[in-house]
Amino acid sequence: MIEPVYQPSPSRYENGMIFRRAGRSGVQLPALSLGMWHNFGSEQTFSNVQEMAHYAFDHGIVYFDLANNYGPAYGTAEENFGRLMERSFRPYRDEMFIATKAGYDMWPGPYGNWGSRKYLMASLDQSLRRMKLDYADVFYSHRYDPETPLEETLQALVDIVRSGKALYAGLSRYPLEAERFAFRYLAERDVPCLLFQDKYNLFNREPETSGVLSLAAESGSGFVAFSPLAQGLLTGRYLNGIPQDSRMAEGRSLRSDVLTDAMLARIRGLNDLARRRGQTLAEMALAWLLSDKRVTSVIIGASSTAQIADNLRALENTSFSSEELTEIDALSRG
Ligand SMILES: NC(=O)c1ccc[n+]([C@@H]2O[C@H](COP(=O)([O-])OP(=O)(O)OC[C@H]3O[C@@H](n4cnc5c(N)ncnc54)[C@H](OP(=O)(O)O)[C@@H]3O)[C@@H](O)[C@H]2O)c1
Repeated sequence: MIEPVYQPSPSRYENGMIFRRAGRSGVQLPALSLGMWHNFGSEQTFSNVQEMAHYAFDHGIVYFDLANNYGPAYGTAEENFGRLMERSFRPYRDEMFIATKAGYDMWPGPYGNWGSRKYLMASLDQSLRRMKLDYADVFYSHRYDPETPLEETLQALVDIVRSGKALYAGLSRYPLEAERFAFRYLAERDVPCLLFQDKYNLFNREPETSGVLSLAAESGSGFVAFSPLAQGLLTGRYLNGIPQDSRMAEGRSLRSDVLTDAMLARIRGLNDLARRRGQTLAEMALAWLLSDKRVTSVIIGASSTAQIADNLRALENTSFSSEELTEIDALSRG
């Protein structure tokens, strides 16, 4: 059977997607991006991977967030993305913003982890082969490495951009002082940091309290929020137990012991408030992040197109009254 050729929706930029400029750069990103950490690897059916990726692109989600170790298994989200490039997306490459990263354990031995030049260079070459790409749009140092001199990691990013294997450099999960040093180092070499990525959601306000969010904004870097739904806690997913097909049931990155009575009470309170606003909890949690203009894009995860559809509706109302914000703060802190 000849597979149908993918025809993206002609109205993909007219479905309500909002684009925001990444810091002081020429790049605009969709307010919602699709992350491929879970549900896009070899343990998924390729048809679901394909359906979600097509659905996203058809709705203006043109930023796809990958990393060398996404799957599961490691590498397989990038391999599936490579299949999508070959089957669907190649004609639309210039409409897409594709990110990958290196920084976590990827292959055995001392050169398959952390922040050495040796690892970052080799990993990006592998990622590009898996994704069937000539270049990535942004390549991130996935985490701060306290043992490698920061200059070595950053110079590798500079050289990667100069080589054309990535168009921009990004940083993920750097503590404040390392972020400050990195922004300066990169800017002085004319490879300014395009995007700073960190975990940010109603339950995790660290980017506000640590100062990394303000520093990104002041330094002209975009900011992208990951795990905006606290891996599914900030949705209706766990209101009535732990569904068998959920991330929590898998028990890898989201453990069931976080679902205490106190946590459930917080989720229920927020869910009620969301309902009063005419939103689902997921929509409200995403809208809350986007109500801060310093947030360039929010990277969602998903296991179905229905979830992506729900999440897209967040864009319809991203404003909050001060009473709502106060209530959200009280409810989310518990
Ligand atoms: N830089 C880093 O170190 C780092 C770390 C983590 C993540 N990230 C990036 O951020 C992306 C997103 O992270 P995340 O997957 O943790 O994000 P998330 O959006 O907080 O959680 C996604 C999960 O929430 C559930 N969900 C999503 N929408 C829903 C809806 N409308 N209703 C009910 N449930 C819904 C799904 O769970 P089920 O699967 O149970 O259905 C989905 O897999 C990753 O894919 C990755 O690209 C980066």
